[in-house]
Amino acid sequence: MTKKKILTLIGTRPQFIKYSVLSQYFNKFFNEILVDTGQHYSKRLAENFIKELRFKKPDYNLGVQHPDPVNQISEMMKKLTYVVEKEKPSLMICFGDTNSALSGALVSVKMNVPLVHIEAGERNFDQSGAIVHPNSIPEETNRVITDTISDLLLCSSKRAVKNLKAENVRGRVEFTGDIMYDLYLNNNKRTSPGNSLFKSINLKPGAYYYCTVHRALNTDNKSRLEIIYKTINELDKPVVFPLHPRTKKALSKYGILKKNSNKNNLIMLEPVGYTESLYLTNNAYFVLTDSGGVVREAYFSGVPSVMLDDTSEWKDIFLSGWSTLAGADRKKIKNSISNFKKPKKKPAFFGNGNASAKTIQSIINWYN
Ligand code: UD1
Ligand code: UDP
Repeated sequence: MTKKKILTLIGTRPQFIKYSVLSQYFNKFFNEILVDTGQHYSKRLAENFIKELRFKKPDYNLGVQHPDPVNQISEMMKKLTYVVEKEKPSLMICFGDTNSALSGALVSVKMNVPLVHIEAGERNFDQSGAIVHPNSIPEETNRVITDTISDLLLCSSKRAVKNLKAENVRGRVEFTGDIMYDLYLNNNKRTSPGNSLFKSINLKPGAYYYCTVHRALNTDNKSRLEIIYKTINELDKPVVFPLHPRTKKALSKYGILKKNSNKNNLIMLEPVGYTESLYLTNNAYFVLTDSGGVVREAYFSGVPSVMLDDTSEWKDIFLSGWSTLAGADRKKIKNSISNFKKPKKKPAFFGNGNASAKTIQSIINWYN
C-alpha cells in the first residue's frame, strides 16, 4: 500500500521539540514532507535542536525572518503555498500556537488540505478562572483561529477537550495527552550534558532558581521587563537565566542591563539545549517562567513554579497549587515563593506518557 503524503509544519523552538517525539512515527507510517518556516533561525533556537533531538533535516526551509507578525505570517503563507502546490499533501499537521502554526492553518483551509492540530484547545484563563479575549494575546488569537479551521484536533489535556466542546468546533476532537510529557519521560533521567553545564557554572542542586522569559507581554514592555529583572536579582539564591534573543535585545534596548550593572544575582546564559533545560528544571529550587513548555516541565518534575504572566492556558497547573500566576509584580513573585506549600497531589493532567502513540493512531484512524 502506498503511504499517504503528509506535510508537517514546524518553525520555532517548542515546535522542534514537540515534533521530535513524533518524527520516527511520521517517517514510518507516512510519506512525510517536513517544512520549517524559519521563524526561529538563530543556531541556539533552531539548528541545535535539530541536531540534539536527532530528526531529519527539513525538506524545505521557508527562511521567513520578519520581525513583525503581519509580514511574517503573510510571507510564510505565500511560500508555503508554493510547497503545497508542488507536493500536493493529503493532509497538513501543525503544532501549538505560534505564527508558524497559524500560517499553516490558513494555507490549509484556503487550499483544501485537511488540517491536524496538535496541542489544540488550550485557552488562556485569568486568575479568576475567566477565559481571556483572544485578541489580547497573540498566541490565543492563533489558537482560536487554528482550532476553528482544524479537521482533527488533538488535545494534551482534558481541559482542552472541554474548551473545544464549549466552542462547538467543527472538527473531530480527541484527547491524546501531552507529547511533551512523553519526551520528558524519555529524557529526564539523562545527566549529560546538564551535569557539565552545572560544573561549568558551579551550580548545586536545589540551590538556584531557573528562569526563562520571552513572551511579548514581558519583552515588549520596558516596565514589566525591568520589574522582573530587578525582582529576580533580589532573590535569595542565584538565578540561572538563559536569554531568548528577544529578551536579550529588549534588555539592552531599554538600558536595563546598564542601569542595573551592580546587581549580579543572575547567571545569564545563551539559550541552552533541551536536555540542559530539563536538567536545570529538575534540579531547581523553584522555576520562574512565562514559557508554556517550561511551566509544564516544572510540573512534570514536581518543582514548584511562578508564572511570570497575568493569564495562562495551563489553568490546571495553577489551580493544583504547583504554580502561581504572579505577572510582573514584585510582591506577588516573592510571596509566591515564600508562601508555597507543597500540594499533596500532582494529578496526571497530561496523560500517562503514551501521547505520541495515541497521536499517530488518531491520525491514522481519522484519515482512513
Ligand atoms: C515565538 C512564539 C511564541 C513561542 C516562542 C517560543 C508567536 C507569536 N510567538 O515567540 O508563542 O512561545 O516563539 O520560543 O509565534 N529572534 C532571534 N532569533 C530567532 C528568533 C527570534 O533573534 O531565531 C528575535 C527577533 O528579534 C524576532 C524576535 O526574537 O523579531 C521575536 O521572534 P518571534 O519568532 O516573532 O517570536 P518569539 O518571541 O520567539
Ligand atoms: N528550552 C530550552 N532552552 C532554553 C529555554 C527553554 O531548550 O534556553 C526548552 C524548554 O525546556 C521547553 C521548551 O524550550 O522544552 C519551551 O519552549 P519556549 O519556552 O521557547 O516556548 P513556549 O513553550 O513558551 O511556547
